[in-house]
Amino acid sequence: MRSWRFVSVLARRGGASRLADANPMTRPIIIDCDPGQDDAIALLLALSSPDELDVLGITTVAGNVPLKLTQRNARLITELAERGGVPVHAGCARPLVRDLVTAEEVHGKTGIDGVDIREPRVPLQDRHAVDFIVDTLLGAEDASVTLVPIGPLTNIAMAMIKEPTILGKIHEIVLMGGAMREGGNTSASAEFNILVDPHAAHVVFDCGRPITAMGLDVTHQVLATPQRIEAIRTLGNPVADATCAMLTFFSRFDSEKYGTAGAPLHDPCTIAYLLEPGLFEGRLCNIAVEIHSELTMGHTAVDMWDVSARRKNATWVHAVNADRFYALLAERLGRYG
Ligand code: BDR
Ligand code: CA
Repeated sequence: MRSWRFVSVLARRGGASRLADANPMTRPIIIDCDPGQDDAIALLLALSSPDELDVLGITTVAGNVPLKLTQRNARLITELAERGGVPVHAGCARPLVRDLVTAEEVHGKTGIDGVDIREPRVPLQDRHAVDFIVDTLLGAEDASVTLVPIGPLTNIAMAMIKEPTILGKIHEIVLMGGAMREGGNTSASAEFNILVDPHAAHVVFDCGRPITAMGLDVTHQVLATPQRIEAIRTLGNPVADATCAMLTFFSRFDSEKYGTAGAPLHDPCTIAYLLEPGLFEGRLCNIAVEIHSELTMGHTAVDMWDVSARRKNATWVHAVNADRFYALLAERLGRYG
């Protein structure tokens, strides 16, 4: 296991400054998300793993549903996980250039249909998500913080544009987005997160820091089958029950769309990769984002065979051991008991 040199990230939680704890094996991360049932499960997986992951903050963006719902949903999930001390910040309410496109047909009107919705007690932080990302990175050691974007990349690109010196503070970006062999899920060419804000994705893929991309080629291998959902249900704790309820709702649309026994559990692949990278296989290559053609807007051109002269800027993950992925998820959700 790698050891993390970190550790003097000055992160603000609940308005108070604090030094993140100094466990050298704990990787400091910021999760940027648009919950979304699969985002919610990614958050639950991360929050169940404090020995490996120090979640400095959760930033939210418009995507699956509008911003006012994604930030509320993120707060509900931290409350469910009894991790209300992890700060939640709201970020950008629309993409850089294009109009916002949402995905209620997949996620339901609330974004996390399947669980009971109420106004959480966990407060929304005053600071804008982009400022939280900038301030946190500026206070960190060089190459120390991992960014985990699992929604449209608007907040991350805005932070890079606002304060380019944050780039040197990023250890790695592990994101969910893109499609190659699988084809698109939102247009013939493009995956949802990239298509919603292709200009932001272009900025991020071009940023020069190490990127690991979990696109549909790999996320379509981790199907939430009825058997896997039942295995989580047997854990018998409130977080596992909520996860099953979300998965059951989430699965109905994609099972029909793809003719599969369950929906792809996209976003948790990022966290599973941070916890157990050996579950995945990928290739370092060039990935470029189409931002000119309306027909193929948001397409990720993945140069798997190194046929372009473009710099290798990202690891494209293309395979996963799905049974071990679900075993990891169940083991971690079991900890909530
Ligand atoms: C991505 O789009 C959203 O619907 C999911 O939350 C995931 O981040 C999959 O294309
Ligand atoms: Ca998402």
